[in-house]
Amino acid sequence: MTEKYLLTTIKVFMKIKSATFVKSSTDYKKCPQADIPEHAFIGRSNVGKSSLINYLTNIKGLAKASDKPGKTQLINHFIINEADTPWYLVDLPGYGFAHVSKSIKKEWNKFLTEYILKRKNLLCLFVLIDSRHEPQEIDMQFMEWLASNEIPFVMVFTKTDKLTAGQLKKNISAYNKVMLGAWEELPRQFLTSATADKGRQALLRFIEETNEINNLS
Ligand code: GTP
Ligand code: MG
Repeated sequence: MTEKYLLTTIKVFMKIKSATFVKSSTDYKKCPQADIPEHAFIGRSNVGKSSLINYLTNIKGLAKASDKPGKTQLINHFIINEADTPWYLVDLPGYGFAHVSKSIKKEWNKFLTEYILKRKNLLCLFVLIDSRHEPQEIDMQFMEWLASNEIPFVMVFTKTDKLTAGQLKKNISAYNKVMLGAWEELPRQFLTSATADKGRQALLRFIEETNEINNLS
């Protein structure tokens, strides 16, 4: 076996050696210092953002997941691999949740918008999409807004265990059809299932590669 071959096989994907909750912030100005790479999960309420964080870090209950939509209400920072190559993983509140008052919704939108536009170390926003559904207007609008503000993002189709391979293919094709109607190219896409252990490796590899090419110092 050549040395080169060994190197490529060893570097399969980043290991998560530690994952620790840092703080919950109500405002991007109160977030931890923006001095290490950051990746944030966003998407409609109940899409599986917190569950995906627990799945990636392999720590049950690190991010609070719930059957009840609207569980995550603040900007939650988790620090990963603090001792060697640290980066932040961020759990955000869901958008499009109907069961909160208009004033709370307005406040969430304000702080989410500010966080997305102003957080300097945010390397990539992961837009989670429930793979069971047809393209949703709110997700399309949100991604168009991200693109128009030049915010780097990828799409993550969640809960893929809940449908057959054929249904999944059909739903993703439907999304891509709508998106290609508006855009020249598609954002990068990942398929995940937090319950059926799917997609972890590809996501972690992508995060590692993104961290490597973005030197914040
Ligand atoms: P908010 O914080 O309310 O915005 O929700 P969230 O996007 O963080 O969703 P959360 O992780 O709390 O998950 C919502 C529900 O979906 C929970 O009941 C999870 O157990 C379930 N869920 C999340 N991911 C998966 C998955 O991959 N497969 C299945 N079958 N269920 C999932
Ligand atoms: Mg949540």
